[in-house]
Amino acid sequence: MKTAITELFGIEHPIIQGGMHYVGFAELAGAVSNAGGLGIITGLTQRTPELLAKEIARCHDLTDKPFGVNLTFLPSFSAPPYPEYIAAIREGGIKIVETAGRSPEQYMPALKAAGIKVIHKCTSVRHSLKAEQIGCDAVSVDGFECGGHPGEDDMPNMILLPRAAEELKIPFVASGGMADARSLVAALAMGAAGMNMGTRFMATKEAPVHDNVKNALVAASELDTRLVMRAIRNTERVLKNAGVDRLLEIEREKGAKLKIEDIHNEVAGVYPKVMIEGDMDAGAWSCGMVVGLIHDIPTVKELIDRIMADAERLIRSRLMGLLGAESRASLEVA
Ligand SMILES: Cc1cc2nc3c(=O)[nH]c(=O)nc-3n(C[C@H](O)[C@H](O)[C@H](O)COP(=O)(O)O)c2cc1C
Repeated sequence: MKTAITELFGIEHPIIQGGMHYVGFAELAGAVSNAGGLGIITGLTQRTPELLAKEIARCHDLTDKPFGVNLTFLPSFSAPPYPEYIAAIREGGIKIVETAGRSPEQYMPALKAAGIKVIHKCTSVRHSLKAEQIGCDAVSVDGFECGGHPGEDDMPNMILLPRAAEELKIPFVASGGMADARSLVAALAMGAAGMNMGTRFMATKEAPVHDNVKNALVAASELDTRLVMRAIRNTERVLKNAGVDRLLEIEREKGAKLKIEDIHNEVAGVYPKVMIEGDMDAGAWSCGMVVGLIHDIPTVKELIDRIMADAERLIRSRLMGLLGAESRASLEVA
């Protein structure tokens, strides 16, 4: 399938694996790129720029296809040295960067000078337009359903995607709630040029996370996510667990007076405990509502091949089948 996104990034299928803290290691990014999608290493999971350089080199050993690096500009307890991370990305020969969180404006000159294409993740039309204006090549439009940080507008993709299509000139992918061929075809119908998946890619054989995480994703339903940290305007969608229950209890007690220090234990340092040790109640970790559509743990290639084959069937049989014989004949002639 050819879209503006496959052309922009030189990939076979319009499917991107979004950056995921403690999930987006070389194993997953390499597997996604080898299967024809765009794999993305999560930059800040690597504690130093030197470690990121090593992770990029490891991914080059796993695939000769394009892959990217995610750089997340979020409020954090200590600000990472972004220019050094960008140097590691540039020197690692990376040509695609997924930015997220705050605007990447300040870093655009450095990224562009290195010939890097930038796809910025946005949860609103106004931020998407700003990304276009500062020279981003594409946008990942992240709806309210998404795992991670959906922003503060609570705008689901059924509205956000067509609105983005109305306003944007640069291509965009649909992100948040995407799991299968139905998601891809619907996203294309709403004007997106592909889709970005996070949670779905965590439940694959190659995702380098503890089996407890993958099994929890298969067991969970679409009702099992919670929003945390709204009071400090850092809203995150996470999978419900005992740690999240504790966090929500503190949030209820503190109300609008909540400070990040109050919930430090439930949000800081949680990812290694969950993803590596498999401690499922350690605290808050991102997960999308799409978890309700995850019923198996395929290889990345099985997942992507299935999506593309089903998408073709969906378009040819279901959608074309809805047209009358006369419309179909005129399409065939055209
Ligand atoms: C476990 C997990 C960790 C994530 N970590 C990051 C991150 O570090 N930076 C980022 O930009 N997005 C992060 N995301 C968001 C994803 O890149 C993606 O935008 C999101 O998962 C899309 O929604 P979906 O989960 O419904 O597919 C994370 C998502 C998950 C599920």
